[in-house]
Formats: sequence, structure tokens, C-alpha cells
Amino acid sequence: MKGIILAGGTGSRLWPLTKALSKQLMPIYDKPMIYYPLSTLMLAGIREILIITTEDDLDLFKKLLLDGSQLGCKFNYAVQNEPKGLAEAFIIGREFVADSKVALILGDNIFYGSGLETLLKNNRDPKGGIIYGYHVNNPKRYGVVEFDESGKAISIVEKPDHPKSNFAVPGIYFYDNEVIKIAQGIRPSERGELEITDVNKAYLNKGKLQVTVLDKGIAWLDTGTFSSLMQASQFVQVIEERQGLKIGCIEEVAYKQGFINEIQLKKLAAPLLKSGYGEYLMNLI
Ligand code: DAU
Repeated sequence: MKGIILAGGTGSRLWPLTKALSKQLMPIYDKPMIYYPLSTLMLAGIREILIITTEDDLDLFKKLLLDGSQLGCKFNYAVQNEPKGLAEAFIIGREFVADSKVALILGDNIFYGSGLETLLKNNRDPKGGIIYGYHVNNPKRYGVVEFDESGKAISIVEKPDHPKSNFAVPGIYFYDNEVIKIAQGIRPSERGELEITDVNKAYLNKGKLQVTVLDKGIAWLDTGTFSSLMQASQFVQVIEERQGLKIGCIEEVAYKQGFINEIQLKKLAAPLLKSGYGEYLMNLI
């Protein structure tokens, strides 16, 4: 399975913070934001990843993440000129995906919690689409999924005025290869975007969409507002300082997944010793 991280957009909801710098490079406590979704894909065992960003930010992402070989991965880069919607990721990325299955994660979505690795790894061979539902207080800001009494998903609506449930759809999606064809067939919504919700609806209508409710043990953090951005940093700080373990540490995930060996990890740690991050990596060995 291949992976795509969508890290474009204007970030205008966080201006002036993100006027000169990509939202997905903003700090979440001790790491750039993109480390978190990247570590999530790596935790799923995905090593071949396409990072889609804007022309302006492309070089910064390349400077940060290189070609991925230092992490035992392969990173490719592509540009999205305008934020025409999440589903455009599959149009921009169609040659990259080729005939593989694919996972898409939004560059500003943070997942953390017990059992996450197993949960993600179970999705590596989707027969259709696999998405999640997550109970939130304010579902209006998200794609919202409605379930019948038996727990079967029966509708998905993007940012509904009158949500039929409190279950938002988080920004991580797993699909079979048909997603390329489906994304090419959808039309822009009223807000002018190719909606991921329309992709999910297409799978739902075919009876090929699996929607799993994430339980309370998993945290899905949003970074869409000044307040939620701050809260995400505080969340990471509290857990990391209490446990002495890092969240979203791509070097650690690469090592623990067996993508890199001790020598490679030491090489990654060396330039990071001054901040304490390198020391953390050294202590993993
Ligand atoms: O966070 C989960 C939600 O993400 C889902 O529940 C919704 O169904 C889905 O539509 C999306 O909601 P938003 O409309 O709020 O997404 P937003 O415009 O904030 O974009 C999400 C991220 O993707 C953000 O970091 C910017 C990036 N992006 C967005 C668009 C539209 C791109 O890179 N390119 C784009 O064209």
C-alpha cells in the first residue's frame, strides 16, 4: 500500500501565522506538524509516500524530509497549485499510486492512542474504502457519518447545518485502487472543491465502505483554529513529559518498524543532540 499526505491549502484560517509558512510546518510542541501524520502512515507500515504541497512550500518540505531514505522510506513530492479539494490528491497522485492500494492522510490531522498500530495495519488490504467515525462535540465542521440501529453507516454529509450524529470523519482514509477512477468522476461541490466526502459516498452507494468507530482510547486532534493548534501542542507536551515517550517521532517509528537499523538511527540522532531530541533517539537503542 502507498500513502499520500495532503499538505497544501492556504492555511487562511490561521493567518497571519501561516501567511509566510505552510500550516503543516507549524510546531506542534517539539516537532513540525507533518511529523505526526507521517508517523501515522509509517505506523501502518507504509514506506512509499507522496507529499502534496504548494509550489511555495515544496522546497521547505524537501529540506525537512529529504527523499525518505534516511528513514528507510521513499518520499515523492508533488504540487497542488490551488486548494481544489482533498479528492484531487488522487488525481495529482494517480501515476504515483499506479495500480496500488492507497491511504490518504491530511497533513494537519494528529492521531494518538492505544491500539493505533494494529488498527492501521488491519487496513492494508481494503476491498473498497475504509474510514472512521469519531465522536466530537461540534460535528458541523466535519464530514458527518450517520449509522442505523445495527451500526451500519447509512449517510455521510460534508459540514451539515443539522448533523444527523456526533460522528465526524477524521482525515485518514484507506482505499482500493478504484479510488483513482472515482476521484476522476466526481464534480466540484458548491464550495468549489472535489470533496473526499463524495468519494466516500460513491463507495457507500456501492456497499463498499467500511466505517469503524474509533473508541475513546484514541485521540484525534484537530489543528484548524488557534485554540485547537495550541491544545494539540499542550496535549503532546503533557503526554511526552509525563511518560518520557514521544508522540509522532518519525525516527523512532522507522527504527521500531525495522525500516532502519541502530547505525542509521545514531546517524539521525547526532545532529539533534543539542535539543534533547537526539538524546531521546539514542536512548531507544
Ligand atoms: O479534518 C477532517 C475533515 O477534513 C473531514 O471531516 C472533512 O470531511 C474533510 O472535508 C476535511 O474538512 P475541511 O474542509 O475542514 O478540510 P480543510 O479545508 O481544513 O483541509 C484539510 C487539510 O488539507 C488542510 O491541512 C489543508 C489541506 N488541503 C485542503 C484542501 C481543500 C490541501 O492540501 N488541499 C486542498 O485542496
